[in-house]
Amino acid sequence: MDDTVGITIGVFGATGRVGREVVRLLVEANQTVRAFTRNPMRADLPAGVEVVGCDLGEPETLAAKLAGIERLFLLTTGPQALDHDRNVAAVPGIRRVVKLSSVAAMPPTGNVYAAAHAEGEYVVQVACPEWTMLRPAAFMSNMEYWLPPIEAERTVHASFGSIPRAVVDPRDVAAVAVRALVEDSHIGETYTITGPEALTVPEQVDRLSRVANTPLEYVDVPGSAARAGMIGGGMPPELVDGLVAELADPDPRRGGIPLPTVERVTGRPPASFDDWLTRHRRRLLGSIGL
Ligand SMILES: NC(=O)c1ccc[n+]([C@@H]2O[C@H](COP(=O)([O-])OP(=O)(O)OC[C@H]3O[C@@H](n4cnc5c(N)ncnc54)[C@H](OP(=O)(O)O)[C@@H]3O)[C@@H](O)[C@H]2O)c1
Repeated sequence: MDDTVGITIGVFGATGRVGREVVRLLVEANQTVRAFTRNPMRADLPAGVEVVGCDLGEPETLAAKLAGIERLFLLTTGPQALDHDRNVAAVPGIRRVVKLSSVAAMPPTGNVYAAAHAEGEYVVQVACPEWTMLRPAAFMSNMEYWLPPIEAERTVHASFGSIPRAVVDPRDVAAVAVRALVEDSHIGETYTITGPEALTVPEQVDRLSRVANTPLEYVDVPGSAARAGMIGGGMPPELVDGLVAELADPDPRRGGIPLPTVERVTGRPPASFDDWLTRHRRRLLGSIGL
């Protein structure tokens, strides 16, 4: 670890799947952390972390909230993600940004979701002298979207499930992020981050079925059904089209091939899907009524 004495590291997305792990690992590494959330009262972050109420959609407030922050884990999400990247890039004084992007940012970026991540990378690269881009494959935790239908009917409905994905544990994405925040050797790097094996959705369902010790059925549904579901859930159609395009993309370079990034950066292999299921077993089984 390089010298980080006197440096406060800012974390956006601190209450989410990746950012919460970033905060935890930084605290474990004795770093000084300022965590940002829109709801400090509900943040439930480790003792010693400075928790600051902050909305990335309020650019006029950001300079004050980020005062004294030289290094930042930047996670933006949702339809305004690119605007939020731009808002942060406009704040002076942030020397290092480790940005959570996506394999989707790999060119060519033919949809809104991919283009927003690619452009977000660019605005950070222009604004900050020290940057590292993290491009993870699909998160293992995405399978949590299957839990309500599993509880109701022991069935998983998914689209394009036959395309193998080297799904990654969000904790491993966080571990790479923390190295990039505290070590200088990752400056200027763009890391594609995957888990150790490429799995189709039916293979993931099969693993869950074994951990739960209960039969689960996989039903392939058309992309139009996935689209309708996301729009019904309140997401803007343009962003949904981008996400569906990513789901349908068969190019294995976009998160379909296991890569050694996690082990190279952190010195230990990435968690397998079975590791992830085992770690979350109790919570997952509770969610499906077992
Ligand atoms: N899921 C995947 O398979 C996958 C794969 C590759 C890349 N990604 C990328 O990963 C990111 C999502 O990461 P995640 O799953 O860890 O996120 P998440 O669990 O959905 O959490 C979102 C976080 O963003 C914060 N946030 C949302 N809007 C905010 C705002 N206006 N101002 C400040 N904070 C805000 C939330 O904080 P509060 O609610 O506490 O304010 C929360 O901590 C996205 O950029 C996505 O494109 C996802």
